[in-house]
Amino acid sequence: MSDKLAGVVGWPVGQSLSPAIHGYWLREYGIRGTYVALPVAPENFQRCITALPLMGFAGVNVTVPHKLPAATIAGTLDDDAKATGAVNLLVFSEGRILGSNSDVQGFADSLNESFRVQALAERPAVVIGAGGAARAIVLALARAGFRAIRIVNRTSERAYELAHRFENTDCRVVTWGDWPAAFTDAGLLVNATSLGMKGKPPLDLPIDHLPRSAAVADIVYNPVRTALLKSAEQAGHRVMDGLGMLMHQAVPAFEAWFGVRPAVTVELRAQLLKELLRA
Ligand code: ATR
Repeated sequence: MSDKLAGVVGWPVGQSLSPAIHGYWLREYGIRGTYVALPVAPENFQRCITALPLMGFAGVNVTVPHKLPAATIAGTLDDDAKATGAVNLLVFSEGRILGSNSDVQGFADSLNESFRVQALAERPAVVIGAGGAARAIVLALARAGFRAIRIVNRTSERAYELAHRFENTDCRVVTWGDWPAAFTDAGLLVNATSLGMKGKPPLDLPIDHLPRSAAVADIVYNPVRTALLKSAEQAGHRVMDGLGMLMHQAVPAFEAWFGVRPAVTVELRAQLLKELLRA
């Protein structure tokens, strides 16, 4: 039997840690498989995706900037992909393309691993950002039982669009810059923007308005300790970095393509930290 084949499609994709995650699990579980990074420009996305099953791929992860187009290519969407309109996992099966969003559960799993979520959820969560990642996070927070979610985004129209998408939950838009209104009484702050990522400016927020008991989460994982997390730690907040979500969102993908449900372990985290140092 030939090796099973999967990968990640993005533009650019060289910085992705997904090959390190899946490569680690393939070795760990002794599975004959290959996981490759595939740089695909937006204008070629559809043609490349439809060609992959013909080349023997079991499926691919989809990353920036393809998560929204991927939702339109998939013939079948799971519930979280439908709710977010974004897909980060494609599975090719018997001529069909199945699209899922495993970022939602990935964020939820990481949150549960890091904090006592029930206690945090009694107070509002603040989500900074309104892109594809923010959609997954708002859904995960609503499902985790957060009573209220405040959305703050530089471009307010996108914040309103996001709030509208989840109109059955208590989502409110707070104007960018009105940090006292956003942070008062909050139980959790999440950076769902790309700010703070290597090569981008830091997310510079005056978190002194945030209650000390609030937890702070960042979806950025390169660097793993962002300026936001450093200042939050210094101010006495509990923090969660972006590696947890990244590792957990990969679990259903690996299981779908390679047939084993892999474990997220401290050894995997250590391996990824090594990769980040090398990059
Ligand atoms: P993703 O799918 O990763 O969420 P995205 O859809 O491009 O990517 O969204 C990026 C998010 O980062 C958006 O919320 C964006 O804010 P805008 O909607 O105003 O563009 C936010 N973002 C990126 N650069 C920013 C900056 N310099 N200042 C504030 N927000 C920024």
